[in-house]
Amino acid sequence: MNPIRHFIDTQDFSKDELLTLMSLIGQLKEADAAGACPKLLEGASLGMLFEEPSTRTRVSFEVAMTKLGGHALYLKPGEIHLGQRESLNDTADVLERMVDVIEARTLKHSTVTGLARQADVPVINGLTDYNHPTQVLCDVFTMMEHAPAGKRLEDVRVTFVGDATNVCNSLAAICTRMGMHFTHAAPKRYQIGEQVRALAEENCKLSGGSWTATDDVNAAVREADFLYTDLWWWVGQESEIPERSRAFMPDYQLNRALLSKAPAHCRVMHCLPASRGVEATDEVLDSPQSIIFDQAENRLHTEKGLLVWFVYPRLKRPSEALKAHYRGQLESFMSRTSELALGEGHGR
Ligand code: CP
Repeated sequence: MNPIRHFIDTQDFSKDELLTLMSLIGQLKEADAAGACPKLLEGASLGMLFEEPSTRTRVSFEVAMTKLGGHALYLKPGEIHLGQRESLNDTADVLERMVDVIEARTLKHSTVTGLARQADVPVINGLTDYNHPTQVLCDVFTMMEHAPAGKRLEDVRVTFVGDATNVCNSLAAICTRMGMHFTHAAPKRYQIGEQVRALAEENCKLSGGSWTATDDVNAAVREADFLYTDLWWWVGQESEIPERSRAFMPDYQLNRALLSKAPAHCRVMHCLPASRGVEATDEVLDSPQSIIFDQAENRLHTEKGLLVWFVYPRLKRPSEALKAHYRGQLESFMSRTSELALGEGHGR
């Protein structure tokens, strides 16, 4: 078996691999729409490890696994021993003996990379403090579905307005990887950091894409095909709310006035959950230009694609003869031992 590949960062995948994954996602979406999602992962199990709550990631992975004929276990925040009474390595060593793939949402990025280093099954990153690769794979797939007619992916312009969140980091990475044009509009101190700038720069050299970070939000939206925003603060940043509100409001709020400065074909995206009335108004999130719920639905199709991509090639496919051999052997064993198992004659 080849060394195990994990889905920790889209940077670990070439443009061609990401396009192939998106083709798989599209085919699975079409099959599902026809009510004919193939049970490609029959008998497989997914361990879903969450250190933080989730709606989309949790539900999409669980439903995806069910539709593919497999089974998912939700390992709730605080309900397994990880971090309390059991080390990361021991948790990985146990899970790899029982499940075929692990999805992990961890507070620290180093936790998911540590899990991937230790586990002998694929690990899929379901969000860390650094990035959110499953979200942005879904996002680029969604952009391909909603790009202006005739526009190549390499000509698409994406403007992210707001804080340099994990989603923003990942979007900068995947857009530049794919040869797209990425702009981050935010006050200077909230713009993408050096690490993300460096990888975006490297990606652009190879892909022909471009990136920029600016505090001129009006210029940043002028040519955008997609305007994307995310929360201005997250759990643990409550003490910064007044300062962040002053920095982002009103200029960086995705509202009707800002959207009117973008081309008429521009589509609005948000990874959700949204703080309605904060980073974006209801008027914009619920407008005909908004594709936020298509985007959310595509998380399901994306997770199906990721699960098939990482698990299907690793599954054993025994012949019918081998299955019949073991079934016969075990049925015969049980017919000889049923009395014992039922406790008949127990105590004689
Ligand atoms: N976008 C996203 O990851 O949503 P959840 O936090 O609900 O999983």
